[in-house]
Amino acid sequence: MSESRRVPIAILLSGRGTNMVSLVRAAGDGRLHADVRVVVSNKADAGGLLLAAELGIPTLVLNHRDFPTREAFDSALADALDQRGVEFVALAGFMRVLTPTFLNRFPRRVINIHPALLPSFPGIHAQAQALGYGARITGCTVHFVDEGTDTGPVIAQVAVQIRDEDDEDTLSARILQQENLLYPQALDDVLCGRLRFEGRRVLRAREATGC
Ligand code: GAR
Repeated sequence: MSESRRVPIAILLSGRGTNMVSLVRAAGDGRLHADVRVVVSNKADAGGLLLAAELGIPTLVLNHRDFPTREAFDSALADALDQRGVEFVALAGFMRVLTPTFLNRFPRRVINIHPALLPSFPGIHAQAQALGYGARITGCTVHFVDEGTDTGPVIAQVAVQIRDEDDEDTLSARILQQENLLYPQALDDVLCGRLRFEGRRVLRAREATGC
């Protein structure tokens, strides 16, 4: 394990958790300069919660249905992360739009992975959208989260060819393989200050500041 600083992060998910596992493993073997403080789900039955517990990561369920408004949920979520000393948030299949109530507590400190080449095919069922459109290439995108749905600045992307014989399952599986590789690398670039902004373009920093 690297002796350099590790940033305390939270991973938020709503489902199966392969991207979470990929991030936790990368943090465990020094490829990702992060200390995963907690895995949070808005769904008590998310498979990712069991995987996180098996990996020894503390878990927390915050059911959005228990809160009267999106803002009340977002506020409780931010409080829970603050209590655990979290400085950075990685969304990994977290199927809730976060409001400024949450995002303003973690400015430019929330990133997401999406299974398409944004700005194409935002929102849900991105792989089915790409197939239905007849695109020949799709992929995955890691991006900063803003108030929109999958509209924040792009950090990294990988392209995946769409084959004639693909259905939603086969295409999703090939994209997911690339997601699991891309996410730890992209998050480490952010945490270690290897990136800089030029407007909404995210470029390589001339000198890395951290790690
Ligand atoms: C991933 O394909 C991720 O890109 C997608 O949910 C899946 C979660 O898989 N996220 C979105 O569609 C967000 N708009 P996982 O639980 O195995 O990481």
